[in-house]
Amino acid sequence: MRKKIVAGNWKMNLTFEEGQKLTTEIVNMYKDENIKDVTVVLNPPFVHLFSVKKLVGNTPNLFLGGQNCSDKASGAFTGETSATMLKSFGAEYVIIGHSERREYFKESNELLTAKVKQALENGLTPIFCCGEPLEIREAGTHEDYVKNQLTESLFGLSEEDFAKIVIAYEPIWAIGTGKTASSDQAQEMHKALRDHLASKYGQEAADNTSILYGGSCNPANAKDIFSKADVDGGLIGGASLKSRDFMDIINSF
Ligand code: PGA
Repeated sequence: MRKKIVAGNWKMNLTFEEGQKLTTEIVNMYKDENIKDVTVVLNPPFVHLFSVKKLVGNTPNLFLGGQNCSDKASGAFTGETSATMLKSFGAEYVIIGHSERREYFKESNELLTAKVKQALENGLTPIFCCGEPLEIREAGTHEDYVKNQLTESLFGLSEEDFAKIVIAYEPIWAIGTGKTASSDQAQEMHKALRDHLASKYGQEAADNTSILYGGSCNPANAKDIFSKADVDGGLIGGASLKSRDFMDIINSF
């Protein structure tokens, strides 16, 4: 059985006080609203990890993740943060290959393979992002484009390692734009990706892989998107910065 997951990606937002306030609200609502069967992950900027972890404590099914990690284990790489450090600060997950990292920091499929390896070696669950830009969607080659991202970065993994991966499909044209993919577009891509995973790792492994949707997910559209057979949750940007919206998305399951 694959997990239902809602992950909040704070991106480069929130001061220390704002991060504390948001986390406190989420933890309280999470406990009050008796959330069941949904794994929730908070992915704050690195500098928040320690203080957010203190507030989250050992709340069941509420986890911490990084937004990125280095492809290197340790050493003279100024400004980088290793998977080992993330794990030591209580993170269980790490977002890898977000389209903003791919675009602004020129992260290639090859580099992402090394990041996935670092994450897995340190016992972190990678939330591996994929998704096409608008021109690829308009050209109609989006399925091949996204499948290729998975092939190039993930298909060197052993079956055992692949079983630890979470995928997030995020069409770039839907991120932060308020223009979400329709639930049918999401389902169509998620099904294509699951079939692609099955062609490499077998149907059972593919059926056990959580595939999240991301891109302008909000309380108004989450229920429809999450109702689709191959959509197993969401990677939430903007709406994860508002506790009520984030909780409403979690409650959409
Ligand atoms: P958004 O971001 O929800 O603000 O569109 C999603 C993401 O980039 O992970």
